[in-house]
Amino acid sequence: MEEELYKTLPKHTCTWLQGIVTLYKYQGFWNSQTFHEKSMLAQSYKAQPSDILLCTYPKTGATWLKALTFAIVTRKKLDEVASANPLLTTLPHDCVPFLENHLEKIKANPSNYPILGTHLPYSFLPKSVIASNCKIVYMYRNIKDVIVSYYHFTRELVSLSVEDAPFEEVFDEFSEGVSSYGPYWDHILEYWKASQERPDIFHFVKYEDLKRDPRSNVKRLAEFLEYSFSIEEEKAGVVDDIIELCSFDSLRNLEVNKTGKQQVDEHFAMEHRLFFRKAEDGDWKKHFTDEMEHTIDKLVDEKMSGTPLVL
Ligand code: A3P
Repeated sequence: MEEELYKTLPKHTCTWLQGIVTLYKYQGFWNSQTFHEKSMLAQSYKAQPSDILLCTYPKTGATWLKALTFAIVTRKKLDEVASANPLLTTLPHDCVPFLENHLEKIKANPSNYPILGTHLPYSFLPKSVIASNCKIVYMYRNIKDVIVSYYHFTRELVSLSVEDAPFEEVFDEFSEGVSSYGPYWDHILEYWKASQERPDIFHFVKYEDLKRDPRSNVKRLAEFLEYSFSIEEEKAGVVDDIIELCSFDSLRNLEVNKTGKQQVDEHFAMEHRLFFRKAEDGDWKKHFTDEMEHTIDKLVDEKMSGTPLVL
């Protein structure tokens, strides 16, 4: 995108992040200049019919979905789930890279990455994705817990303490739609509408449903991906082994996820532990006032009516 264009776009500097992050609204969605540029570059990706694309709004459970999908798709021998699985030594985001963040690596060796993640809104997906008929899994999560998760993740990413990053400010921004890849509800609604037109290529998973009933949800996911579990596999406990391998406690306690970090650029390293915070449904109750709760309930009623999706 031309530098000049940014001067014409709606702009918001995040005060709760002490002005470190500035977001621009481009074609309906907010993001930093760097991420808008990455989205543009991602257009050059040539999707294959066999690709699996895991689409999420940030902090809705991409790490978990990536781990589960990777474990489902790569299982070859029954005992492999538990022993030599790459998930034991690799951050799920390295097993399943984000299309927009690792474009060059993916394009150089596309067959190494049959499963990709993305935070891109539906309208920002490379045109080849829809044309290819590849499978798209969309995961979403209770909006109140997403706000809290987004707050802590972003705050920690830029090393700000809770005292230095007022929650009320991120709340106001988020509920006005101003957040990376936001508005969150528009992110969901775009995918939802697209799924109504092409139900054959979309599968929706709700974070809370996956937590409540991992067995049925993992089996449904595997079926959609055309990697259904055989009766022998089920009897041998493969579904349960995958659920256990990808559970929050198992993943967060692995050395790679406890102490690993990766250099994002020359100034800045991302600690893997940030992807594994609490995984607690209803953590929002410790952060929200009654008024905040009411604001979000009203917003969700207004935005999500007309869909069966419950946020
Ligand atoms: P919390 O911040 O509420 O703890 P994403 O993976 O999209 O970045 O989302 C991160 C959220 O998913 C965090 O939520 C994180 O703790 C949670 N999470 C990470 N791994 C998980 C797992 N295996 N099972 C359940 N939740 C997980």
